[in-house]
Amino acid sequence: MKRSIITTGDGSKTISLDEWNEQYHSKHGAIQEAYHVFIKHGLYASRKNSITILEIGFGTGLNALITLHEGIKRNVHIKYTGVEAFPVSPEEVNELNYVEALQVPQLDAAFKQMHSCNWEEEICLSPDFVLKKNKLDFRDISTKGEFDLIYFDAFGARVQPELWTQAIFQKMFNALKDNGILVTYSAKGSVRRAMDAVGFTVERLPGPPGKREMLRAIKK
Ligand SMILES: C[S@@+](CC[C@H](N)C(=O)[O-])C[C@H]1O[C@@H](n2cnc3c(N)ncnc32)[C@H](O)[C@@H]1O
Repeated sequence: MKRSIITTGDGSKTISLDEWNEQYHSKHGAIQEAYHVFIKHGLYASRKNSITILEIGFGTGLNALITLHEGIKRNVHIKYTGVEAFPVSPEEVNELNYVEALQVPQLDAAFKQMHSCNWEEEICLSPDFVLKKNKLDFRDISTKGEFDLIYFDAFGARVQPELWTQAIFQKMFNALKDNGILVTYSAKGSVRRAMDAVGFTVERLPGPPGKREMLRAIKK
């Protein structure tokens, strides 16, 4: 499928899948959305000083980069697992302007390393941030009770409804520890019901600019 790099409303870039009219991030602002959904309502809400995070759809590495940045600022020890089936190409990574847009030149090497490091191997990007990327279809995840927080960032249910089913959220529920949190930009009723059905306690929260609501699910 043809892919192109576009500039979103806050000046940060994202990847667009032209045929699906689907983007990796909100057209209103990639960084703005990532901060709102995953940092404000995920990382900050978990209030831990040592945390295990699973990202569903590692993609551009934007969520990992801002999590690294926030972790350093707040002295949080982070073990970050990113699952991705279709990695972005080195040419695409070169066009992403996240280090400049976030004004974090000190993380330039870490951002590059995130993309160049081997799959299925742990790497320390800072003394308190361990990354492991798994090249895997996330439907095949079978982990149990390992994560405090899940960033659920698959393409939308409009284009990939098969990734937002009860069976998938059962796997996410199983992968979380008790009181673990899953956050996603989606607020679709069918998604909320699928989360509900597997036992999550689901909250609707205000969405990032351009989106009325988002969902946060807790394994109580
Ligand atoms: C909405 S994009 C978000 C990516 C990433 N979180 C970011 O900020 O760039 C969704 C990602 O999920 C990946 N993906 C799609 N289907 C997948 C699957 N079945 N298993 C694993 N990854 C998948 C895509 O390749 C893409 O990188």
